[in-house]
Amino acid sequence: EKKHKVTVVGSGNWGSTISKIVAENTKEHPELFEQDVQMWVYEEEVDYEGKKQKLTSIINQHHENVKYLPNIKLPTNIIPNPSLLDAVKDSTILVFNLPHQFIHRICDQLKGHVVPFARGISCVKGVNVSDEGIALFSEWIGEGLGIYCGALSGANIASEIAAEKYSATTIAYDPPPMDSSRNPSQNATPRSQTPARQPNGADQLSITPLADMHHRDARGRKSKTKLTPVPSEYPPLDHITFKTLFYRPYFHVSMVSDVAGTSLGGALKNIIAVAAGFVEGRGWGNNAKAEVMRIGLLEMVKFGKQFFGETVEEKTFTVESAGVADLITSCQGGRNFRCSKLAVERGVSVQEVEETELNGQKLQGTTTAAEVNSFLKRRGLEQEYPLFTAVHDILEGRKTVDDIPTLVASDH
Ligand code: NAD
Ligand code: 13P
Repeated sequence: EKKHKVTVVGSGNWGSTISKIVAENTKEHPELFEQDVQMWVYEEEVDYEGKKQKLTSIINQHHENVKYLPNIKLPTNIIPNPSLLDAVKDSTILVFNLPHQFIHRICDQLKGHVVPFARGISCVKGVNVSDEGIALFSEWIGEGLGIYCGALSGANIASEIAAEKYSATTIAYDPPPMDSSRNPSQNATPRSQTPARQPNGADQLSITPLADMHHRDARGRKSKTKLTPVPSEYPPLDHITFKTLFYRPYFHVSMVSDVAGTSLGGALKNIIAVAAGFVEGRGWGNNAKAEVMRIGLLEMVKFGKQFFGETVEEKTFTVESAGVADLITSCQGGRNFRCSKLAVERGVSVQEVEETELNGQKLQGTTTAAEVNSFLKRRGLEQEYPLFTAVHDILEGRKTVDDIPTLVASDH
């Protein structure tokens, strides 16, 4: 029986935290996974102990990402690797965890270099807007690399989870059933603390490759990707395996099949968190913040139904960690919230605060606001999403925070 090799592509604040979670689990589940977890590190020189040193050497020696996740001990089975192609070599599970602005370049480099039957999980919060329209990063990564890619998203402020404080997440994983005739005895590996198999998560194995096995993407369209089945000597890559890889006693996992809702929740709440920071920075208090959260939630649901209506489920936004819970935590203490609040208090741009306060970490809300706006503008739909539009216009200096009540008024 072969085991799955796992690579985390990315090692920022959340990338390092997810690597820690995954490495704790690969150690506990040798029946499913190789123990060592590759973590691709965007190499840079960091001042440490009085001298400049490579970040990978520091992580290797001290088992701590001193720049992006300081004061957290990382498991020794995390292998920091500055070579992207070497990090993904032979890996059957690829976890993408980078700021969304870097994903294109990384995936371009990965094309043709990943195991054909690998499966991915995207932890990226953002949407991919291009001339062709809008796509989820999970879709875009999957199409680009010729693999299936699901999404992990939730109320997951990294520093809290790295400190092992209780939290939960949503993992959406909905590949096509590749072979319904798989022998159940092949799946008999005992797996503790895992749920009963869920029908939508089955990614069963096939003896012969089904080269023409297309699946439906997050808008119900026939995917261009020809999936290669996972060979039968490997454990199946299904809901049980992914739950086992990510679940910790302090990090609960809800497995769903709504990839679009899960991904959109994580992307769009970042725009709303910027709005929450604006009104809090202006000193308007809790009622104002609750109101922009309420309006933002409605715009999020509307956006999902309007552009991903074939598969998106409203309950993902209202019930799952990836929806309302992420919105709440991000509007209380996320980086987008904190930076936009400080920007208003100091009378400077959000970008300036990002540069001076985040030590290299990246905001997703500012770029997502611009990307969603260019998508809506092209379709003449800016006025249908007044909060999303207001956030972008304020970031661009065309409107001010004081304009928010008028801009979002339902009767204006
Ligand atoms: P981060 O904000 O810490 O970003 C910094 C990372 O980007 C570092 O690893 C850095 O090396 C890398 N980087 C810088 N320049 C680069 C380049 N040119 N090419 C490639 N990489 C480069 O990142 P993060 O917090 O790990 O966020 C990754 C994703 O996870 C984002 O989409 C974010 O929204 C999401 N997320 C973050 C959190 C959180 O609390 N941090 C929680 C949930 C989800
Ligand atoms: P920020 O990027 O605003 O810190 O949000 C983190 C997050 O996604 C929490 O779930």
